[in-house]
Order: sequence, then structure tokens, then C-alpha cells
Amino acid sequence: MAYENIRLETEDAIAILTIDRPKALNALNSKTLQELESAFNSLPATARALIITGGGDKAFVAGADISEMASISAAQAREFAALGHRAFATLEQLPIPTIAAVNGFALGGGCELALACDLIYASEKAKLGLPEVSLGVIPGFGGTQRLTRVVGKMRAKELVFTGERLDAAKAKEIGLVLDVLPADQLLAHCKAVAGKILKNGPLAVSQAKRVIEFGADQDLRAANELERQGFAVLFGSEDQKEGMKAFLEKRAAGFTGK
Ligand code: CAA
Repeated sequence: MAYENIRLETEDAIAILTIDRPKALNALNSKTLQELESAFNSLPATARALIITGGGDKAFVAGADISEMASISAAQAREFAALGHRAFATLEQLPIPTIAAVNGFALGGGCELALACDLIYASEKAKLGLPEVSLGVIPGFGGTQRLTRVVGKMRAKELVFTGERLDAAKAKEIGLVLDVLPADQLLAHCKAVAGKILKNGPLAVSQAKRVIEFGADQDLRAANELERQGFAVLFGSEDQKEGMKAFLEKRAAGFTGK
């Protein structure tokens, strides 16, 4: 499908989605959110990992589009937030691992987009934050909830109340990003991480993601029940048989995702 504000390429089994709206530092207007939702719903069947990054060398995504939001009504704001929530929930629930390569500003909706990915890596130039209160609003694409789950309630309140922009090192210190890379190595690093994941059984990786994702919001008993089910279901797969047979035969496994 042809998109206006995003680009989707596939390298081997890795899909790379670039948000590319340089005139607004890749800000998310409705059109871009619709394109993201559509892309998440129609990734190539061969894609086994997704990397999301920003076009240009300045921004990952500088937020939701302020010029679009400036004059909308409360009802339209509800629609806009619902669109963002829907797109990011689709991303979060993809059956493949997703990696945010934060190559510059990831503010507001941009930080929220990264938070909907499984893993976040940042370049040394990255700046992350939720500055919405400085505009007289609050984060509207899941940031208040996902940030809290990642960095804890008190740190999330500090970031949301102050609207402070963190540099990459500070973001790493509080656990908002996993690692910080020189700008010219960020994408290669994300591809290398995806490559390590791709060596493993795809059904197992997908099941692990599902169990961690759905279990995180349940009590421990219910979450562990999810884990038992996920563990058991994999024993019906060819990949389990191949993975364990390969170990016993001291050779690399050839997983097929069946
Ligand atoms: N929406 C629309 N346009 C944006 C934008 C945004 N979020 N961020 C940047 N732009 C535009 C600027 O208006 C500017 O356009 P013009 O050239 O036409 O004037 C262009 O991108 C370049 O930006 P700057 O000139 O401001 O670049 P800078 O290097 O001086 O500053 C920046 C960079 C610090 C990221 C600054 O642009 C900025 O603060 N942007 C807004 C960040 C922000 O507040 N994000 C949160 C948005 S609210 C939100 O996301 C709500 C939600 O949760 C749903």
C-alpha cells in the first residue's frame, strides 16, 4: 500500500517502519496515525520483527500534531485520542517483537509510540518526555498508563507533572530506554537485537510476548495460569520438537514457525 507519511521496508524477516514527515518533525496527525494503524494491521506475513524509527536526523516523533489539535473540540479530542489508542494497541498486540529506535526527539505522542513497543533503544541525541501539561493538556495516547508501568508511579508523575525532557543517558538510568548508542550505530544495533531474536523459535517468542504482555496487568495467580497455558500449547508445535531434538543432537535448530 502507498503511504504519505510513513515508509515500510522489509530486510530479510525484519520490517522497518519509518515515520517520515520532516516538515513537522514526524508529528502524528490523524492521517499518520491512520497510516500507522493500517501498516500494523497489514505487515508482510514474512515479517518476524518490527523496528520503528523516525525519518531525518532530528526526531523520532515530536508528538501528536499540535497544529491539528489546537482548534479541535472535546468530542474531536476524544476521537483523536481513540485513534491513537487504537493504533498503539494494535502495535502492542502484534504477535512479533517490536523495537523503537529512538533517533531524536520522542516527545508526547512520540514517547507514547515508543512505550507501545516491546524494546526501546536510543541514540545519544535522543530526548524523551511527555511535555503535554506545558500545552495545557495531558498525554492522550496511553502515556500516563504505559510510562507508569515502565518507570513506576512516582517517576511517571515527576515526568508528566514537570514535562521535563530527558536526555538519553537519564532515560536509560530510569529504565525508559534499554541502551544508548552512537547515532550512526542505532539502527544496526536494533537489527542485531532483532537478529538474535529471529534465531529462536518464532512461536515461542510470540507466546512469551503474549504471556508477559497480558500477564503484566493480572494478579500473579492468573498471570501464572497464562504462563502454564502458553508453555503447554507450545508442546503441540513442530518447533518444540525440533528445538529439543536439535539440543540433544548438538546442532542448531531449524525452526519453521509451525
Ligand atoms: N506538532 C506539530 N508541529 C510540530 C511539532 C508537533 N508536535 N513539533 C514540531 N513541529 C514543527 C514546528 O512547528 C516547526 O514547524 P515550522 O518549521 O513550520 O515552524 C517544525 O516542526 C520544526 O520544529 P522547531 O522549529 O520547533 O524545531 P526545534 O529544533 O526548535 O525544536 C522541538 C524541536 C523541541 C521538538 C520542538 O519542535 C517542540 O517542542 N515540539 C513540540 C513537542 C511537544 O510538545 N510534543 C507533545 C505534543 S502534545 C501530544 O503529543 C499529545 C498527546 O499525547 C496525544
